[in-house]
Amino acid sequence: MTTDDVGSSFKSFTVSLHYDRRLYKQDIAGSIAHVRMLAKQGIVTKQEADQIVKGLAAIREEIEAGQFPWREDLEDIHMNIESRLHARIGDVAGKLHTGRSRNDQVATDTRLYTKEAITKTIAGIRGVQRSLLAQAEANTETILPGYTHMQRAQPVLLAHHFLAYFQMFERDIQRFRDALKRTDVMPLGSAAMAGAAYWLDREWVAKELGFSAISQNSMDAVSDRDFLLDYHAAAATCMMHLSRLSEELVYWSSEEFGFIRMAAEFTTGSSIMPQKRNPDFAEIARGKTGRVYGHLMGLLTIMKGLPLTYNRDLQEDKEGFFDTVDTLLATLEVFAPMLISMEIRWERMRQATGAGYMLATDLADYLVRRGVPFRIAHGIVAELTRYAASKSMTYGQLTMDEFKKFSPDFAQDVSEITEEKSVAARDVPGGTAPGRVRQALEEAKKLLAATSEKPE
Ligand code: ARG
Repeated sequence: MTTDDVGSSFKSFTVSLHYDRRLYKQDIAGSIAHVRMLAKQGIVTKQEADQIVKGLAAIREEIEAGQFPWREDLEDIHMNIESRLHARIGDVAGKLHTGRSRNDQVATDTRLYTKEAITKTIAGIRGVQRSLLAQAEANTETILPGYTHMQRAQPVLLAHHFLAYFQMFERDIQRFRDALKRTDVMPLGSAAMAGAAYWLDREWVAKELGFSAISQNSMDAVSDRDFLLDYHAAAATCMMHLSRLSEELVYWSSEEFGFIRMAAEFTTGSSIMPQKRNPDFAEIARGKTGRVYGHLMGLLTIMKGLPLTYNRDLQEDKEGFFDTVDTLLATLEVFAPMLISMEIRWERMRQATGAGYMLATDLADYLVRRGVPFRIAHGIVAELTRYAASKSMTYGQLTMDEFKKFSPDFAQDVSEITEEKSVAARDVPGGTAPGRVRQALEEAKKLLAATSEKPE
């Protein structure tokens, strides 16, 4: 090996081009805004700026046509574009980087990219919410067991169950909107870290690029990646919600539960067991949650030892971030049609609701209405339930005499307690009573309608 070989083989260690290429649009937009401002401020001439802008526009076309001569030896997207600009327009290209550094440049590019990613993410979440809402609307009378500790607990409306997820995703949207506020800040003008030594109009560039604010401290601006952490954290929570939903879909589609049937396109068969319909899409979504968590941890770990200001470690911020964005968007995109296309087996849900002792709370409430203190009523129903279970009988199969053995307060009308009545009794704000669920559906519809008016 010659020393040259050693040099080139080690150089690949620093290359980021294969992943930061995807910042080309943001990089070019940032450069165009910067050089126009330089001309406006009299730092370069109008002709020079025009030449540079034209050159950059041509490069964008070249990239989009797949004709750009990418050079790994130039390390990253910024150097590739700048060097190509020089090849196309000559020495005047060198004026573009006046009052700028790759440090404020990459921070600006990444923020522009993140803003777009947030917009797409929110739109993706809205898609999933729309499917949840449609399923909820179709199932305002479907009753299924609600679980605690994975034990059948109390009957609920399936619409209520779906709307629980709607709420989770609504909070996710709030988190991404909040992240957007902190992402929407422009670092350009910070230069390497101390601020540019030219009379730049930072506000003008910010406006040109669609940023709401400019950064307030140059040293912070070139080294801050909190906005990426905000995205990662919101993405991790959103994936966690998708994963919880996946988990339910997986066991709901098992033979033991049989609550749903996934549409064929979201399942796969087994290569050796022809009867199987595996819920692979939900399982993969659950699995992908792991890598998104990993990227959050990865970036936190990259950042924890970094002194001010820019350190090359920061280049490691992008790969995990892009993967998180891709993973989350792809998962959301699969979930919207997967949720809407699954078949609800309401009769299985109803059957499961009647099979257990889910009316136990209602029996206790019955006694309470007859003056029995709740704690005592609870004990009576616990004993009654143990007795019924030992005989493998449902409450409905017990005779009146048997009821009376446990409490003289039981009367004939105890047989009128049904799953439907149990659901209807939960008539508090946020409860599963049909009226409350209808109200929640209206609220959810309003939320979706309000956002479709203004594009996210
Ligand atoms: N590729 C680098 C990154 O992503 C760009 C900034 C490099 N700056 C520097 N001073 N080496 O962070």
